[in-house]
Amino acid sequence: MQAGFKKKLVLFASGSGTNVEAIANYFQDHPDVSISAVLTNKRDAKVIDRCNRLNISVLYFNKWAFYRSDTVLEILRKLNPDLIVLAGFMWKVPKSIVQAFEGRILNIHPALLPKYGGKGMYGMHVHTAVKDSGDKQTGITIHYVNEAYDKGAIIRQAQVAVSPQDSAEDIAKKVHQLEYQHYPEVIRELLN
Ligand code: GAR
Repeated sequence: MQAGFKKKLVLFASGSGTNVEAIANYFQDHPDVSISAVLTNKRDAKVIDRCNRLNISVLYFNKWAFYRSDTVLEILRKLNPDLIVLAGFMWKVPKSIVQAFEGRILNIHPALLPKYGGKGMYGMHVHTAVKDSGDKQTGITIHYVNEAYDKGAIIRQAQVAVSPQDSAEDIAKKVHQLEYQHYPEVIRELLN
């Protein structure tokens, strides 16, 4: 990383935002990386409280702004991030944004894609499906975002064992731990 040029991240989140917090903590004292803003599509998302506590700007947008206008695209153009990081963001990114930031949008999926991906497979739905399947492994997939949902090039996968005693919530906890460990690291590597 070249000294003097701060790399900028913009994060998207829809829920609790524990990944946002893990990324924020990881880069807290980093001289060359800053989080410009967190964008959320949920007016009452827990991530908003987290951002207030962490002193990170948070912007809310609705469905109309995202899919029927260039509002979010324009905000992103102004912020001019080096990477856009989806951290528990549950809407499909529109083509205009994918094209404008080709190769600079990352997502984390809480399973080993291509398994348990696609429409309707997000958050606890994924962990419940893993539990029901009896799979002995699950994990995370960090991938680029393209126009096909959950189908962009894979950057990193990491696995964790699932035991028959694990509830879907236990699986979620294990997967979250992997996310906190790997997502910030991958972001840093890509910024380098
Ligand atoms: C994370 O496990 C993330 O992988 C998943 O949502 C959770 C958000 O947790 N993302 C998806 O399912 C995207 N399809 P968080 O809000 O506590 O970071």
